[in-house]
Amino acid sequence: MRKLSRRLTLVSLLFSILLAPLRTAPAADFKREVIYQIITDRFFDGSSANNNPSQSSGLYDSTKTNWRAYWGGDLAGIQQKMSYLAGMGVTAIWISPPVDNLNTNIPDGSGNPTASYHGYQARDFKRIEEHFGNSSNTWTEFDNLVTAAHQNGIKVIVDFAPNHSTQNNAGEFGALYDNGTFLGNFSSDSNGYFHHNANISGGGWDDRYQAQYYTLFDLADINQQHSTMDAYLKAAAQLFQQHGVDGFRIDAVKHLTWGWQYSFANSIYTFGDSFLFGEWFQGNTSDPLYHDSYKFANKSGISLLDFPLNTAIRNVFGSNANFSQIDSVISQEGSNFTWKEDLVTFIDNHDMARFLSVNNNNNRLHQAMAFTLTSRGIPCIYYGTEQYLHNDTSGGTDPFNRPMMTNFSTTTTAYQLVNKLSTLRRNNTAIPYGSMSQRWINNDVYIYERRFFGNVVLIAINKNETTSYNISGLNTSLPAGSYSDYLTNLLGGVSISVSSGSGGNNPVTNFTLPAHNVSVWQFTEGASTPQIGSIGPTNGQPGVKVVIGGKNFGSSTGTVKFGTTTATVNSWSPTQITVTTPSVTNGNYNVTVTNSSGQVSNAIQYTVLTAKLIPITFTVNNASPTQVGDYIFLTGNTIELGNWSTTWDGAVGPMLTPNYPNWFLVASVPAGQTIQFKFIKIAANGSVTWEAGSNHQYTVPTSGTGFVNVNWQY
Ligand code: NOJ
Ligand code: NOJ
Repeated sequence: MRKLSRRLTLVSLLFSILLAPLRTAPAADFKREVIYQIITDRFFDGSSANNNPSQSSGLYDSTKTNWRAYWGGDLAGIQQKMSYLAGMGVTAIWISPPVDNLNTNIPDGSGNPTASYHGYQARDFKRIEEHFGNSSNTWTEFDNLVTAAHQNGIKVIVDFAPNHSTQNNAGEFGALYDNGTFLGNFSSDSNGYFHHNANISGGGWDDRYQAQYYTLFDLADINQQHSTMDAYLKAAAQLFQQHGVDGFRIDAVKHLTWGWQYSFANSIYTFGDSFLFGEWFQGNTSDPLYHDSYKFANKSGISLLDFPLNTAIRNVFGSNANFSQIDSVISQEGSNFTWKEDLVTFIDNHDMARFLSVNNNNNRLHQAMAFTLTSRGIPCIYYGTEQYLHNDTSGGTDPFNRPMMTNFSTTTTAYQLVNKLSTLRRNNTAIPYGSMSQRWINNDVYIYERRFFGNVVLIAINKNETTSYNISGLNTSLPAGSYSDYLTNLLGGVSISVSSGSGGNNPVTNFTLPAHNVSVWQFTEGASTPQIGSIGPTNGQPGVKVVIGGKNFGSSTGTVKFGTTTATVNSWSPTQITVTTPSVTNGNYNVTVTNSSGQVSNAIQYTVLTAKLIPITFTVNNASPTQVGDYIFLTGNTIELGNWSTTWDGAVGPMLTPNYPNWFLVASVPAGQTIQFKFIKIAANGSVTWEAGSNHQYTVPTSGTGFVNVNWQY
């Protein structure tokens, strides 16, 4: 019986692999991509057959005047616009959540009946929404879209929102289905599939416990630590992987249980290559949870949307703030985020007014676009930006920031700009992998340099509409020579000449940077030593596939080492290698590439986990008394537990204390291992208090979730 069921799983796995749309290049090195964010309902109506499906009829508005209704855009529509997207230089699309959503209207905050056209109210994470696919909620149109995208060299990212199902007090009351089978709902939740706390409000947004365990805007808050919910959400994500997706934009990561997400990411990477980034909403780097956000990004395997930079971009280009604002966010985040080149950068999105609603000036839009396409991070363009799409009703905020696409012109300046800078990203490693340094700045002018070994791109932006600036004293790593504008004057670019200096400071001959100007100058070297610019995922247990991106790897296979251990190579190209995480002791490793002629690359860091991760809720009762600013942390004997670290960034935490002096936290720890751990107090001044006694010990289950409850040892 067991054999038979195993064989059946194998057969169905094989079957799903055969059905799965073909993959393009590996996704885990996403730095060379240009992402385009699509609200599927508002992009293009490719099939009228699904506009008013019977199970959710009446939610569609053919006149497209009710902004809270479905307007007909669908997966077939995106598929039909694939060459438009490819022609723009888009290499990845992020589509709004495609899963089966709420079948009724519900009142929005102001009481207006609202359909879930945006996709953030899932009822079944394993089926496709009937307005986007077909009335049987099957995957056909989704598969067709993925196949078409991959044929055009475009990767597919789905928006995945595992924090909640539908609204908890109206409509379907949070009801969840597992591929059509009813699981439960919020109002009669005898299984404990949901958290039943109040809405997050006021100071709660900055409180670690409330942010993770309270309710987001009346949306039924899923309890991911329930083993059924844990398995359901992980299986749903895997289903998307089986259907060929290359990555996930994870909704509201600040409001999901942070520790659970490490195991969620690990479950995705254990199945296969992917790129993950989350929405951690915050205004700037002074946000009370900013430190938590970069600790999460550095350790979880999930990158983030770069909200602090988004604020600075809108302030500088939209509201004419000084360039120093952008410059300081770049340097602050640069010292905090280990994997800063994986941050996803953007000008606007579906939750804020479009740029042109804030400042209706195409020059400024072009400058902001050129900035995101050339500065550090992976650029994401909100659909329609290239057509200057905006509706300014009520300041252009939600839902007016989600108009229907009307033009698909391939000749706009913005469309061409994306195309040119996408090509540069592919051809010059300084853009995806390079350092970013400020070379010249005043309130209106920002000149910054991207550099990866000998590859250099220098970008100059003057945002003043009328004043040109004389640029003197500018130094660059560009070698001596003359450089014309890579954008061929699309934004008025000028040429420069560089003479030779020393120490990477070659003087640029004084020149005039005209008003509202963007100039881009670039150089690629001919070196032959292998250069690593990327590793993804950034952690994984032995067996997990890893993608190494860079340059000069050569076409014949060489070797890849984790520390001194040679890893199995699965594929090798001059710019991308895939290897399997070797069976070495858990910990941080320097990964290096040696090409077939024996030349060794720079090293990049990778964390080898002990085993697949299982989310465990750790509770410690009656912990050491704390003052304001003191916190209890968990530390223990594997890399997942911080290897006995006693620092804020190294240990696991801070823990949460809704029932002081008891503290708890979800941490993802290695399956099947017997772990040793203790709780510590890290005081506001950094001093550490260990609990007494011998280590606690726990054997982690090999699947599901788990719970540990101990008393602080005095
Ligand atoms: C953030 C999404 O971007 C937003 O549009 C959505 O309403 C909320 N999360 C809830 O899913
Ligand atoms: C040092 C701590 O003092 C002790 O309490 C703990 O058990 C060990 N680290 C772990 O080996």
